[in-house]
Amino acid sequence: MGKIINVANQKGGVGKTTSVVNIGTGLSLWEKKVLIVDFDPQGNTTTGYGINIKDQEYTVYDVLSNSVAVEKSIIKKNKYLHILSADEDLSGLTLELANDNGRLFYLQNALQPIRENYDFILIDSPPSLNLLTLNSIVACDDVLIPVQAEFYALQGLTQLIHTLEKVEKAIDKKVNILGFLVTMYDIRTSISKEVYAELKSHFNGLVFDSVIPRNVRIAEAPSYGESVLSYAPSSKGAFAYKELIKEIVERYYGKTE
Ligand SMILES: Nc1ncnc2c1ncn2[C@@H]1O[C@H](COP(=O)(O)OP(=O)(O)O)[C@@H](O)[C@H]1O
Ligand SMILES: [Mg+2]
Repeated sequence: MGKIINVANQKGGVGKTTSVVNIGTGLSLWEKKVLIVDFDPQGNTTTGYGINIKDQEYTVYDVLSNSVAVEKSIIKKNKYLHILSADEDLSGLTLELANDNGRLFYLQNALQPIRENYDFILIDSPPSLNLLTLNSIVACDDVLIPVQAEFYALQGLTQLIHTLEKVEKAIDKKVNILGFLVTMYDIRTSISKEVYAELKSHFNGLVFDSVIPRNVRIAEAPSYGESVLSYAPSSKGAFAYKELIKEIVERYYGKTE
């Protein structure tokens, strides 16, 4: 049964999409079967994988709103890496489901029949705390929280954690924090070190040792429809994501070396 990891932070621009694309690709290189669920109407994960949304008959929206079979909507990049795409249609779902009693469970229900086909399902969440975010929290086992190394980084985390707790209470299910990932770390700035230290002091063992540096190759890769692991495998950015993926694999399977 695949683990469902929700990459979430209601702040935009903190590295959620970048992390989903690179962790997803990285796990697939470890020969884990991975499904990426783009659950942001901006569809950046979809385009980041070089998928032209105009070529897609169905997206995650059609699965949730029009009962299209999830298998029909999945794009197979290769044996190990599959993608469920999104586009701006998804933003309509919040209104469509507003008065539906089962509105929190749409994504969970959609993923249920295919869960066993994957080792990992990664959800890229939108930069908000709306019904879409709640669906991705309900659907997941674990949450990975990217935190940008900048001044206001920790603001908003309390609200996010509060939301996780509210969902736990509402649906009587444990939502586990897999870890906090510091992104866009710049060794030249003291703020980067401060953000890391402060996260450590609050969440200690939950903070990944690996930090993702600010690295231009990471930012360039999506315009080539690639992860940084394939676009610039020897870059600092690729190295950092590879180290992170090792840590994630260890958290799930124990130490491998
Ligand atoms: N480590 C990094 N170094 C440099 N640029 C980055 C890094 N991580 C993300 N970016 C860039 O920052 C912007 C926001 O990242 P993104 O992953 O889209 O954030 P989110 O999904 O949280 O909104 C994007 O343009 C992305 O290419
Ligand atoms: Mg994003």
